[in-house]
Amino acid sequence: MAILYKSEARRGAEWARVFAEKRPDLPFRLWPETGDPTAIRYMAVWVPPDDLAAFPNLEVLFSIGAGVDQLDLSRVPDHLPVVRMIEPALASGMAEYVVWSVLSLHRRMPFYLRETRGGGWGQQPLREAESCRVGVMGLGVLAQPALERLAAFGYPLSGWSRSRRTVPGVTCYAGAAELPAFLAGCDVLVCLLPLTEETRGMLNADLFAQLPQGAGVVNAARGGHLVQADLIAALDAGRLSAAILDVTDPEPPPGGDALRAHPQVWLTPHIASMTGWRSAAEVVLANIARHESGRPMDGVVDRARGY
Ligand SMILES: NC(=O)c1ccc[n+]([C@@H]2O[C@H](COP(=O)([O-])OP(=O)(O)OC[C@H]3O[C@@H](n4cnc5c(N)ncnc54)[C@H](OP(=O)(O)O)[C@@H]3O)[C@@H](O)[C@H]2O)c1
Repeated sequence: MAILYKSEARRGAEWARVFAEKRPDLPFRLWPETGDPTAIRYMAVWVPPDDLAAFPNLEVLFSIGAGVDQLDLSRVPDHLPVVRMIEPALASGMAEYVVWSVLSLHRRMPFYLRETRGGGWGQQPLREAESCRVGVMGLGVLAQPALERLAAFGYPLSGWSRSRRTVPGVTCYAGAAELPAFLAGCDVLVCLLPLTEETRGMLNADLFAQLPQGAGVVNAARGGHLVQADLIAALDAGRLSAAILDVTDPEPPPGGDALRAHPQVWLTPHIASMTGWRSAAEVVLANIARHESGRPMDGVVDRARGY
């Protein structure tokens, strides 16, 4: 019985130390050194090997990321549980990024940085936090800690999810029918949705048209959520004031890409949050212990929903 790790080698070396310390009975193999493939019971991957059938005794496929959109789930046998990463460093990193970007948009930092760099000194009236409504698309593991931190600033908060959620201090909307009401109340919109067939391309012209005039947009989920040309058009038309994007499609955007040059777009290179190397290995170990004792694992992906 062994675990196969297939992702960045430096991170894998840290995982190997944690596994050697905590589960010396479970050999840790670092791709491409698979050893005997019939011994592999667990895999921790960003993208799995092409031929999963070569590992006939595989019991669990762990994604080393919070999302599983990078996996082609149609190639993963139905009986094989796919487990995503739910890990404390991911949630706190994302909460910081969301707070930073919401504050930046609320306090009009893209405007002020452009203004002062361009030799100007223009000021705009200060908008109180209480009048800057912040809405988060997605009310999951990453969104909820971010909302908790945002609450400290006094922003009126709302959130939108697929199923009905109750989050203290947050006006919650659910499903396609309630999306227009949600969007109408977002001076800053933050996307923290998983990328699925339903959510791909959601940040588009139709959605931007439903936001209040001059709203700001943050995408810290996946580049595939955004229709880039629609964002540029909405910014150029003044419909949106600014956007902060941690993710793009493709990543990185090509050199001459309109997003890179746009004065109202701030780009970061997919750094909103990252799994803690050690804590991620510990989370997987805890899930393996649950699996081995017949208890439900944390973060099992619902294949029908796609997240
Ligand atoms: N930029 C980065 O560094 C970075 C880092 C980590 C993760 N991410 C991205 O963040 C995403 C979210 O992570 P998470 O852990 O918070 O996911 P999660 O716990 O699965 O939460 C997803 C939320 O989105 C909602 N949702 C899904 N499909 C929907 C739909 N069609 N309509 C409305 N709501 C929908 C879900 O609704 P229900 O509550 O009803 O299920 C849930 O509230 C990941 O999938 C990943 O792509 C980005």
